[in-house]
Amino acid sequence: DKKKIILSGMQPSGILTIGNYLGALKNWVTLQSEYDCLFMVVDLHALTVKQVPADLRSRCLSFSAQYLASGIDPEQSTIFLQSHVSEHAELAWVLNTMAYMGELSRMTQFKDKSQRHEENVNAGLLTYPVLMAADVLLYQANLVPVGSDQKQHLELTRDLAQRFNQRYSETFTVPEPFIPKVGARIMSLQDPTKKMSKSDENPDAYIGILETPEVIRRKIKRAVTDSGTDVRFDETRPGVSNLITIHAALSGKSVQEIEDHFAGKGYGDLKGELAELLVEGLAPIQKRYAELMGDKTGLEQILARGAERARGRARRTLSKVFRKVGL
Ligand code: ADP
Ligand code: NA
Repeated sequence: DKKKIILSGMQPSGILTIGNYLGALKNWVTLQSEYDCLFMVVDLHALTVKQVPADLRSRCLSFSAQYLASGIDPEQSTIFLQSHVSEHAELAWVLNTMAYMGELSRMTQFKDKSQRHEENVNAGLLTYPVLMAADVLLYQANLVPVGSDQKQHLELTRDLAQRFNQRYSETFTVPEPFIPKVGARIMSLQDPTKKMSKSDENPDAYIGILETPEVIRRKIKRAVTDSGTDVRFDETRPGVSNLITIHAALSGKSVQEIEDHFAGKGYGDLKGELAELLVEGLAPIQKRYAELMGDKTGLEQILARGAERARGRARRTLSKVFRKVGL
């Protein structure tokens, strides 16, 4: 029987953190055997903010290498750069003509972003979720892994799919949100009430998956903890709870097992062990990453093959769409 189709992607901005890894990438890796997966680096989306062209180009390669190094298998999954498959922009145009100004300007992420990037409120920021809808609908994806900040965009994707299907005829699969069974939400190491993010001003707040053992140890050592001493998961102590969450995601142990293990010990012991878990867990990813980046031609070939596979599928949907709308 046919595997369900999952599509996901990340913007090549900044660096990938252990939040991205434990909250997204690590799950992607486990989905590969059960689902027909497409994983993109969404470089067209990245253009909505000002970019240094050469940096964007090298970050696209670096992000692809980080996907692969984390365990995305290019034989099993389709991995590619969004801009390599021009059908994304083509379908986005058609969908733009069906999206209402009102629904786009009401998107909370647009409202936030247009307030933050006051000097560059370009039309792409407004139509960003339409491009995202095109990404998903081109491949007839059944499932889209979404964090809470993307729920509204997936809702729009579903609305656009239904609107098109009703106006013309059944064309698009209406995708469902996919909530992974184990999705760790990793918080900032400096303010554990907010999400760990690569866009944090304070680099001590996050750990990049490519950071050196020295930096990892230092950042874990500096992580804020709470008053109290015993290692216990507790909502009133978000600092230590976050460290336990990271430990659990890396070690595969339950919170209970971790608490038992640290009974009678203190935060220093937890931090010491956690730093080593991170160093050891990230080492094979970093090694594989260096190999991939050391063979740029090989990496570009992997991406070219991925794009070719994606294009074949995207083309089938786009041909149908063009035919139905009269192009
Ligand atoms: P960032 O907030 O670092 O810019 P994105 O918003 O680009 O990251 O998210 C990329 C993916 O990584 C999404 O699937 C998102 O849910 C996941 N992700 C990002 N940060 C975290 C985090 N702190 N904990 C868990 N998952 C995260
Ligand atoms: Na973000």
